[in-house]
Amino acid sequence: MHCFQLITDKIREIFGEQEKKIPLHEPLFIGNEKKYLEECIDSTYVSSVGKFVTQFEEITAEYLGAKKAIVCSNGTAALHISLLLSNVKMGDEVITQPLTFIATVNAISYIKAKPVFVDVDLETMGLSPSGLINFLEEFAEMHNDGFCYNKKTKNKISACIPMHTFGHPCKIDEIAIICERYNIALIEDAAESIGSKYKGQHTGTFGKFGVLSYNGNKTITTGGGGMILTNDEHLGKLAKHLTTQAKVSHRWEFIHDDIGYNYRMPNLNAALGVAQMENLDRYIESKRKLAMVYKSFFNENNIPFFIEPENAFSNYWLNVIFFKDKTERDAFLEYSNEHKVMTRPAWRLMNNLPMFKDCLTYNIKNAEWLEARLVNIPSSVIL
Ligand SMILES: Cc1ncc(COP(=O)(O)O)c(C=O)c1O
Repeated sequence: MHCFQLITDKIREIFGEQEKKIPLHEPLFIGNEKKYLEECIDSTYVSSVGKFVTQFEEITAEYLGAKKAIVCSNGTAALHISLLLSNVKMGDEVITQPLTFIATVNAISYIKAKPVFVDVDLETMGLSPSGLINFLEEFAEMHNDGFCYNKKTKNKISACIPMHTFGHPCKIDEIAIICERYNIALIEDAAESIGSKYKGQHTGTFGKFGVLSYNGNKTITTGGGGMILTNDEHLGKLAKHLTTQAKVSHRWEFIHDDIGYNYRMPNLNAALGVAQMENLDRYIESKRKLAMVYKSFFNENNIPFFIEPENAFSNYWLNVIFFKDKTERDAFLEYSNEHKVMTRPAWRLMNNLPMFKDCLTYNIKNAEWLEARLVNIPSSVIL
C-alpha cells in the first residue's frame, strides 16, 4: 500500500493535479485546430471532400517517409482495407499477437479469415521474430503457387500483423525478412506508434501496408480516424478507391466498379489532423521527457518501468510499469483508480476471448507474463 501511495502521489505531482481525476491519455488542442475547423465551416466543405483531406494525407506521407497515405474513418477500417488489398480471403490464416487491442483481430474476422496467435517479445511487447520463425518452421510449407500454407490445417497463411505495443517498435526489420521469405504479406498495426522509429525508419513503413489510428486516446487525434500507409503507388490508389465506395471519377455519373466501403474521413476531422500534425514533434518530445521522469522515479523505487527497446525511438504513447503478479497488479489498479489516478491493465489476451478461443495459439508464455503484470499509467502530453 505504501508503494501504491508513493506512485499515485508522484503521478499527481507530475501532472500538477491534486483534486481532479488524472486521465490515462487526454487529447491536446493548442494550435490551429479551431482556425482550420472554422475554415471548413465557412467554406461548407465539412464532409469527405475538401482541401484538408488531401493535405492531411500529403503531410503524413512526407513526415513518415511513405509513398502514399490514405485517410480512413478509423484505424480498424484501415486494417480491414489493408487485409483486403493483401488478398486475404475467407479461411486464410493471419498471424498476429495475442497481446493487442481487439481491433487488430476484428479486422481479420471481418473477412472471415482465421487469426493465429504467436508470442510477443518481453523486451518489445510486440510480435516476436523468434516466435514467428518457430511457428513457421513447425507449421508452414511452401506450395507450387509460391504461397505459404499451414501443413496441418491446409489453410493458406496469407498475412502477418505485428503491433507496436503502446507505441514501442517491435523488431520489425526481422519480421519483414521472415515474411518475405515465406511470401506472407506484412501489415503493420502502427495504430499506437505514430512518430516511433525502428533503426531510424518510421513504424508503419516497413510492410506492404501500415495502419495508424487517430482515436481520441492516441498521441494525436482527429476525433476518430485512421490512415493506411504504403510504399506501393498502385496499392495506394486501390486503397483510396476501396475506401470511397469504389466510385469511378466522373463529373456527374455514378459509376462504381467494385464493392467499396464508405470509410472516408470528413474534411472536418482531417482539418483537426493537419493542425495536430503541426505539433506532433513537440508532443513526442514531451512524452519522451515524461517517460524519463517516470524512469528515474521508478528506478529509485525499484519498480520495473518499461523503456524503449534497443534500436528504437519510441513515442511512449502509454507508459508501462510491472507488478510482481496479478494479485498485486489488481490491488494497484483498485487503489489508483479509487484515488482518481486512471490506470489500466493490458487487454485480455485475444485467445481468451470467447470469439477467438478456438484459434490456433502457439506458445504465448511472454504474452501471458505481460498480461498478468503490466499496468498503463497516465501518459498525456504535458507542456
Ligand atoms: C493496436 C490497435 N489497433 C487498431 C486500433 C483501431 O483504431 P481505431 O480505434 O481508430 O479503429 C487501435 C486503437 O484504437 C489500436 O490500439
